[in-house]
Amino acid sequence: MQRTASLVLEVSTAVVVYTGKKMVNIELFARKYFYDIVWAANDDGFVRNLSFILLAEAAIIACGELMRVKVAKAVYGRYSDSGAKKWSMSAAKSWFIQEIPSLLVPLSLIVWTDAPALNVTNWLLLGLFMFHYTHRSLLYPFLIRGGKPSHIQVVFSSFAFCMFNGFLQGYFLTSHQPYTKDWLAQPNFILGVVIYCVGAFINLQSHHILRSLRKPGESGYKIPKGGMFEYVSAANYFGEVVEWGGYALASWSLPALAFFLHSVCFLGSRSIHHHKFYQDKFKGEYPRRRKAFIPYLL
Ligand SMILES: NC(=O)c1ccc[n+]([C@@H]2O[C@H](COP(=O)([O-])OP(=O)(O)OC[C@H]3O[C@@H](n4cnc5c(N)ncnc54)[C@H](OP(=O)(O)O)[C@@H]3O)[C@@H](O)[C@H]2O)c1
Repeated sequence: MQRTASLVLEVSTAVVVYTGKKMVNIELFARKYFYDIVWAANDDGFVRNLSFILLAEAAIIACGELMRVKVAKAVYGRYSDSGAKKWSMSAAKSWFIQEIPSLLVPLSLIVWTDAPALNVTNWLLLGLFMFHYTHRSLLYPFLIRGGKPSHIQVVFSSFAFCMFNGFLQGYFLTSHQPYTKDWLAQPNFILGVVIYCVGAFINLQSHHILRSLRKPGESGYKIPKGGMFEYVSAANYFGEVVEWGGYALASWSLPALAFFLHSVCFLGSRSIHHHKFYQDKFKGEYPRRRKAFIPYLL
């Protein structure tokens, strides 16, 4: 309790007194408040253990799916509980609130901490992460057409995830791992950025296709056609994991790999549910050769 009060005081002092110069020594800050929460003895251990938490959650999601545990299905969108309207928030509000930490946490680390690792290469890698979340939190929520409200429990858990992951990716790139300039010429960096761009394109194109399925005021489901939907039922999810695969390749780091695997498990599981949803709803009308998540494979 005392520690929480001290943390809140330190953060608010940093925010209030901020006059343009970097204030917080983030490594000391993390050591003081967070190391022992995740059983870390040093900065390497801190980053590693945070990444392991993400990987553990990914493993739980994957096991839940393999064992066909029903609660494993995230209850938002088409699976939201229509009876719980009282505790729900509109799609636009919920997407904005839950995703914005992925943008604001890294931004805060850049602005309010000494960010000792930040150089041109780190900026570019962080740029990949923040580009995605600029779209996801500031544009996507306001373009949604007929989206279902989300229960506040879902909003809260997604918000917590974005805080956690925003901190992990942001801390790693602003404070923990300074990349060299030569990294920009490495094949894994170049290929990773290309893969990221292809994934981002697929994700944005797929969302455009999904949005176009509904006329204003409609909220039902139709068979998506065109783009990667010709190959998979969840083309937007496929695009997103390609994006994070590219990010992981470009940064070749444990935090990025953990986030990529987490996305594969979460979105892979949800793709399988979407695929089944379409097959049950549209029966023989649904394209038989279309897969759930990965073209030709799954
Ligand atoms: N990295 C991660 O771990 C992670 C986790 C979650 C989400 N995301 C990303 O967040 C984005 C949105 O996720 P989501 O789960 O909401 O995606 P989704 O289930 O595909 O829904 C996206 C939007 O399209 C609408 N829609 C979907 N299928 C439709 C159809 N057949 N006909 C008409 N409208 C349809 C949905 O409306 P309804 O709301 O009415 O269903 C919703 O507004 C995706 O790009 C996803 O990759 C990432």
